[in-house]
Amino acid sequence: MRIRKWLLAVLVAAGLSAATYAVGLYRDAHPEDETAFLFDLLDVGTGAVVAEIGAGQGHMTLAAARLVGPSGKVYSAELDQAQLEALQRSAHNSGVSNVLTVRGSEVTTNLPEGCFDVIFMSKVYHHFTRPREINASLYRALKPEGRLAIIDFEPRWWRFWLRLPAGVPGNRGGHGMPIGILVEEMTAAGFRLERSISDWWSFPEQRYCLVFQRTESRSWAPSHNEIVSSRHIRVSSFRSRE
Ligand SMILES: C[S@@+](CC[C@H](N)C(=O)[O-])C[C@H]1O[C@@H](n2cnc3c(N)ncnc32)[C@H](O)[C@@H]1O
Repeated sequence: MRIRKWLLAVLVAAGLSAATYAVGLYRDAHPEDETAFLFDLLDVGTGAVVAEIGAGQGHMTLAAARLVGPSGKVYSAELDQAQLEALQRSAHNSGVSNVLTVRGSEVTTNLPEGCFDVIFMSKVYHHFTRPREINASLYRALKPEGRLAIIDFEPRWWRFWLRLPAGVPGNRGGHGMPIGILVEEMTAAGFRLERSISDWWSFPEQRYCLVFQRTESRSWAPSHNEIVSSRHIRVSSFRSRE
């Protein structure tokens, strides 16, 4: 009898873990949903000029290009030339013509200055080896009231098997980006924390999304914005743009 109960408990736990993992996999496999959610949050609509940093395979860049439509533009800045070329091919193959790829470097995005309503990046900031310089470059690329969304994750002990990206500052404490240090670095670069979402999109892996606004003064004091859960965010047209 006892064994049966244990077996049942193990089966229920395994079922729940598998379901949780499946939700995570589904979400990772649907970057277009994540991008639509992000754009709703940032009020990015048709005709906007936005940029993604470190697009990797470019799923969010392509989704963004569809969301801003032919009258908008998406610049995609990547460090890795092979990734950039793969992204150009994917854009071409999927008939997307409003993506402009830009080769970035460790110290600059190489984006044009004063152009962007919104710049976003996902799982990239913790790879920056020269955050001060890159942040100055992001600041210059944004329009005066432009916003920057950074999706990343805290370093956690269970990611011990992930190598620390080579050359990153020593204060990261593992593979990831501590929110407190990120806010300090962005504030020093002239950004104001506008919104902070603690459980961004991914599940069970916990990511966050911080939205910063470019300020005119670089001595802006850090704000004590409430950290909210994405469950409390109301977005009006999520998915309706597709
Ligand atoms: C972990 S991958 C994330 C890729 C993609 N954003 C995603 O969510 O799947 C990090 C990416 O950031 C790029 N990267 C790192 N530093 C960069 C920089 N300074 N400028 C542009 N891209 C950078 C890397 O080449 C890599 O493609």
